[in-house]
Amino acid sequence: MRILIVGTGYVGTTTGLVFCEMGHKVTGLDLDENKIKALQAGKLHFYEPGLEELLSKHVAAQHIEFTKKTKKAVKENDIIFICVGTPQGADGSADLTYVKNVAHSIGKYMNKYKIIITKSTVPVGTAELVTKWIKEGQEEQIPYDVVSNPEFLREGSALRDALNPDRIVIGSTSETARTIIREMYRDFHCPIVETNPNASEMIKYAANSFLAMKISFINELARLCDGLNININDVSKGIGLDTRIGPQFLRAGMGYGGSCFPKDVNALIQIAKENGQPLSILEHVVKVNEEQTVFFIEKIKQNLGDDLLNKKIAVLGLSFKANTDDTRESPTLNLINQLLAEQAQVMVHDPVVKIAGGPSLVQLQSVEETVVGADALVIGTDWDEYKNLDWVRIKQLMNQPNLFDGRNMLDKRKIENLGFYYSGIANH
Ligand code: UGA
Repeated sequence: MRILIVGTGYVGTTTGLVFCEMGHKVTGLDLDENKIKALQAGKLHFYEPGLEELLSKHVAAQHIEFTKKTKKAVKENDIIFICVGTPQGADGSADLTYVKNVAHSIGKYMNKYKIIITKSTVPVGTAELVTKWIKEGQEEQIPYDVVSNPEFLREGSALRDALNPDRIVIGSTSETARTIIREMYRDFHCPIVETNPNASEMIKYAANSFLAMKISFINELARLCDGLNININDVSKGIGLDTRIGPQFLRAGMGYGGSCFPKDVNALIQIAKENGQPLSILEHVVKVNEEQTVFFIEKIKQNLGDDLLNKKIAVLGLSFKANTDDTRESPTLNLINQLLAEQAQVMVHDPVVKIAGGPSLVQLQSVEETVVGADALVIGTDWDEYKNLDWVRIKQLMNQPNLFDGRNMLDKRKIENLGFYYSGIANH
């Protein structure tokens, strides 16, 4: 099949390449000239393990091409995925400006029957709006169907997730469109949930919100366990083995971040309010998440003292989680900002993210340089390479051997045996 992907960001590029792997011919359309040029040269404009290799392979084999030419791309492709961004508006709801512009262009340049599929996370009712916007753009009446087919991949494991989804959700009232989309996904071996577009859009928000809820649940419970001297990791394991609960997303830490959970939970809260049925449970999920870095900083202060003025704090990791260069809503950046507000001196390290420093914020190339003279070392992001550092050497380089593990990734006993003071999130 010939597939057009509009928006060559994270989801768009991964989706396009996965369809290439399934033997389809793909065109990626974007208005950003720099992105297009990079992609045409087989270069990714973001960090994602394994994706660049796949991109070079399919660019070289001409299975995928990238263009800025909307008219030609719309005319030549009958299956069009909308993968543009839906940023958070001022009131927490999703801003659909980019989706609307794309829908208008599709309407304008449509020459025969097309299926338009929303993959970006969009509010309930968007498929109906896209249908209307396409019609507004049309100069002559040509039939089309709009389908909701949300994406569930995670950054850092995008390729694995997109190639092996747990399920595929197809939201459409058109049997023609559903048949074609089922065929498009025929090589995927997972259940397919067929429903109407509104339910499909809700499934995506509900999935992200439920996972965020699991994280806030375990984080709030961790605060209680911290005081009770109970190891939260054991509790997560003990409840996660119950198949009704499941082991995933029960890792206590500094809270969830990224471009999806914070935005999507807020958007669902907004949808609920607008419909007079507030989801107060999610409001609390957000509150717990916001409090989690404050809780962690209090733990640091219990050891270093309330006054952080000129205390040297080394922070490892900047991205919102490991294996990504994405720092949007990163709990670690949030923590750093709070430390800077308390006038601490912060030295940071990240294997892939580069940030502009400031008078009190310095980024260093290696972990060893980062910890020199530090009064405390904070694990902010759970990059694998922070698991097995040369702790003996690190202790020698630090001013005081205080270690705060915001991701519970280290073995407390081992670290303490080396003479460190160790504090995690109820990692007893
Ligand atoms: C999330 C969802 O997991 C994907 O299914 C979805 O497709 C995506 O949003 C999206 O809507 O596009 P992602 O934001 O890439 O994916 O990252 P996750 O792996 O879900 O992690 C989100 C945050 O939760 C991170 O800050 C992570 O550190 C945190 N987390 C995760 C925990 O604190 N504890 C856990 O046990 C798991």
